[in-house]
Amino acid sequence: MEKHHIEVMFTEEEVDRRIQEIGDQITRDYAGKQIHMVCVLKGGAFFMCELAKRIKLDVSLDFMSASSYGSGTESSGLVKIVKDLDEPLKDKEVIVVEDIVDSGRTLSYLLKMLSERGPRSLKLCTLLDKPSRRVTDVDVTYTGFKIPDEFVVGYGLDYDQMYRNLPYIGVVKFD
Ligand code: IMP
Ligand code: MG
Repeated sequence: MEKHHIEVMFTEEEVDRRIQEIGDQITRDYAGKQIHMVCVLKGGAFFMCELAKRIKLDVSLDFMSASSYGSGTESSGLVKIVKDLDEPLKDKEVIVVEDIVDSGRTLSYLLKMLSERGPRSLKLCTLLDKPSRRVTDVDVTYTGFKIPDEFVVGYGLDYDQMYRNLPYIGVVKFD
């Protein structure tokens, strides 16, 4: 691993406050409905748990895992379904929860695949978005923070599988 250090981009308090706002928004937008949240592992797990706790509606959860990244910081463009969902999506109000949308390749592939399973609605919620990196168009309904093109870790995001457990969002700075 290259020599590096981590600088704080969003503190734990800032992230928590923003997740509360998104939770409130989703609670209003889906009033009277039941939500089925789909977490994209592993990065989306921390965000999904925190978000789900703040939604004051009936929520069911499912998990899937897709890999598009090698061990570096650049997208390979290849998407592999490592673990599929346990439950069908037919007629459900589905919200896909992701850690970050970068090139958008992973998400556009996943959303297309999931939409073919007949959900009543299918929306995307991401903690972070790097719009300047977008290669493939994706329709994001809920975004925590838009960030510049920097490699970030924490709150589920990793650098070579490290730092997922940081309770804040940090930037990896190479020394
Ligand atoms: P995309 O297909 O290029 O949008 O890649 C999305 C995936 O790349 C995310 O779910 C992350 O796993 C990973 N990724 C993209 N940017 C970062 C970053 O800044 N830090 C850590 N992982 C990232
Ligand atoms: Mg990911």
